[in-house]
Amino acid sequence: MKQNKTPAVSQGEILRQKNIIKSINSAFSSDGKIRKAFVETYGCQQNVSDSEVICGMLTDMGYIMTDSKEDADLILYNTCAVRENAELKVFGNLGALKHLKAKKEDLVICVCGCMMQQKDIQEQIKRKYRHVSLVFGTHSLYRFPELLSTVLFDGKRVFDISEDGVIAEELPISRQEGPCAWVSIMYGCNNFCTYCIVPHVRGRERSRDKNIILEEIRTLAAEGYKEITLLGQNVNSYGNDLEENIDFADLLSMVHEVEGIERIRFMTSHPKDISDKLIETMARLPKVCKQLHLPIQAGNNEVLRIMNRRYTKEAYLEKIAKIKEKMPGITLTSDIIVGFPGETNEQFLDTLDILEKVRYDTIFSFIYSRRPGTPAAKMEDVISPEDKKNNFNRLLEVQDRISKEINDGYVGRTEKVLVEGKSKTNPDTLAGRTEGGKIVNFTGDESVIGTFVDLKITESRTWSLVGELIK
Ligand code: SAH
Ligand code: SF4
Ligand code: F3S
Repeated sequence: MKQNKTPAVSQGEILRQKNIIKSINSAFSSDGKIRKAFVETYGCQQNVSDSEVICGMLTDMGYIMTDSKEDADLILYNTCAVRENAELKVFGNLGALKHLKAKKEDLVICVCGCMMQQKDIQEQIKRKYRHVSLVFGTHSLYRFPELLSTVLFDGKRVFDISEDGVIAEELPISRQEGPCAWVSIMYGCNNFCTYCIVPHVRGRERSRDKNIILEEIRTLAAEGYKEITLLGQNVNSYGNDLEENIDFADLLSMVHEVEGIERIRFMTSHPKDISDKLIETMARLPKVCKQLHLPIQAGNNEVLRIMNRRYTKEAYLEKIAKIKEKMPGITLTSDIIVGFPGETNEQFLDTLDILEKVRYDTIFSFIYSRRPGTPAAKMEDVISPEDKKNNFNRLLEVQDRISKEINDGYVGRTEKVLVEGKSKTNPDTLAGRTEGGKIVNFTGDESVIGTFVDLKITESRTWSLVGELIK
């Protein structure tokens, strides 16, 4: 019989961390002072989900969350390493905190997440950012209480970069407001795309036990959550490391049984691993939203080969055709990298061709950023930075046109929308999502937040829709 490859953190260890949380809490309550924490998150949903655990722990310690750095007794940045500009932003932010620390000596500054899972970055912070007290990587998340306690009570600076490769369960979690929740089903990635830092900073694939996932989702349903998004860098390989014979499609069917959850989404899917079984399961299960994020990255086969993506443009298009056939009207999105080392201007045209053929609803596009330690970092460019920028702008132009054309097709239609809250761009309006994940803004009473409403789509934009409540 297959053995689970991923060791779980023992219950005793989790209990020990929870006891540290309690002792921090009682130390704080003994002096009656209210302590505030400011948490800022960069990067993908995996990091957002980790920050929910950090906030859960901080809340149990007795911290109150604040939006103001000036008011905070503890500032924590949960960082991303996927592109250089994400890292530069963190260094900039940390630099700007120097004056706050000078004013408030007992301010505790913490940095964690993917960027901190890199040795040279930790070294740099140790030497140049002496006002930072606690640095830890993605593997040590569950040990945050212990690490913080050393800072608070022993007055030490703590740097932790262990690579446990474990799964920790039953940690406190404080979720963002609204009817939608994120549930990690696995951590890490085994794919090693040659441009990508994620496998280096998140470790190998580790799937959570299905019973624990299902229990978490049942609890969410009981708390009133209506939509869940199953998270993983590559959800299609869920279960590969488990003793049990289970794959992502099986898990999806089990999640579908949870009463009270009305919509299920998931991300991300790797095109090489999306199986016919999964496509059929998606099509069959009504609660599984007809929306798929299937990043192609580039349209040229030679570029895809050097990226180590392990599919061709033709194989990708075949899967898309199958998906569209089984689920007409499905919302499709993608990630695209422009300017991968060695990509010529001519090869880039294949990426534009993909946009025209697939007609994604939206894409997330990035100019390639060198990540030290990844194979692509040593490869040479054949086009200039100006050419890359021009190609990038061309990509946006083509996609904006397609997105607008698709969204125009929604005008006049009725869409069932789960109302998530006030609109981020205009607090006088409410915002929700269609089954396909499109944002719709509309005017309505706040009492509908958290419920499903029928909206008539009256206007379309490139990135969102506008609707009217149907009485
Ligand atoms: N596991 C997911 C997401 C990974 S990170 C997936 O495989 O799709 C999100 C996106 O960042 C990637 O899809 C890729 O488009 C982009 N990305 C990753 N490394 C990058 C780099 N070095 N430069 C530019 N974009 C990058
Ligand atoms: Fe990075 Fe590729 Fe893994 Fe996605 S699949 S996280 S792009 S290595
Ligand atoms: Fe960034 Fe880490 Fe996610 S590198 S994209 S936050 S997994």
